[in-house]
Amino acid sequence: MTPSSNEKGILRYSTFSRLNHWVIAITFVCLVLSGLAFFHPFFFDLTALFGGPTVTRMVHPFIGVIMALCFVVMAIRFFKVNLFKRHDVEWMKHIGDVLSNRDELAPPIGINNPGQKLVYWLMVMSVPLLLISGIVIWRPYFAEYFPREWLRLSSLVHAYVAFIAIITLIIHVYSAIWVKGSFRAMTQGRVSRAWAKHHHRLWYDDIVEQERKEKERTGSRSGAVNEHHMPTKGTP
Ligand code: HEM
Repeated sequence: MTPSSNEKGILRYSTFSRLNHWVIAITFVCLVLSGLAFFHPFFFDLTALFGGPTVTRMVHPFIGVIMALCFVVMAIRFFKVNLFKRHDVEWMKHIGDVLSNRDELAPPIGINNPGQKLVYWLMVMSVPLLLISGIVIWRPYFAEYFPREWLRLSSLVHAYVAFIAIITLIIHVYSAIWVKGSFRAMTQGRVSRAWAKHHHRLWYDDIVEQERKEKERTGSRSGAVNEHHMPTKGTP
């Protein structure tokens, strides 16, 4: 058997997507911590993590720009797999079964389930709003160019949208921990065939079909599909 999808699992995320995701995750957490430090005096001590209040205040917007730029790349790469499909509606009707660990009762799903798609779209709406409102209130570079009302509105938008994004992140991380095997997808890139079959049956069926076609194309010389012929169609 060659170093194949059978041995190492199925490729779910490319190396680039994983690196980009973890840059976003780390910068996002830094933004939450540094943002909270200024949001309420209760969290002020968090400024110590960044080297004091002045540095925290200075680095927060720069980290925000890095996160937003990386997020744009992620949003583009993950756009297609997060479009809602008809079968997502059927799956949503079984959300109760999924949440009570009876997901075998839910209909088969593609590469992402509707919960993951919702996280994606919430972030797609939140990140640009955070970036734009953040730039408007960014002193000393931009704030002075905007009228006072804009600054007030932007501060409100920034705080409310940050709240939504933080809740979304908590749900995202909780689901990633809850669905065993998900972390491996985002660290090693590959998932076991059993995991793919259980959690994302339609995606798995697509891959099996691609493998079958690939085998037909290359003849049945090797029993499995090798690293370079890995079914990458649809892999973000
Ligand atoms: C500490 C923070 C984070 C952790 C531990 C984490 C963990 C993970 C894991 C394990 C996956 C793979 C899920 C699967 O394939 O089933 C994943 C996917 C993903 N993550 Fe994160 N993540 C974090 C932060 C973020 C942030 C901040 C964003 C966006 C702003 C984000 C966006 C995504 C997206 C779009 C995917 C693709 C699949 C999906 O929508 O679930 N993640 N994450």
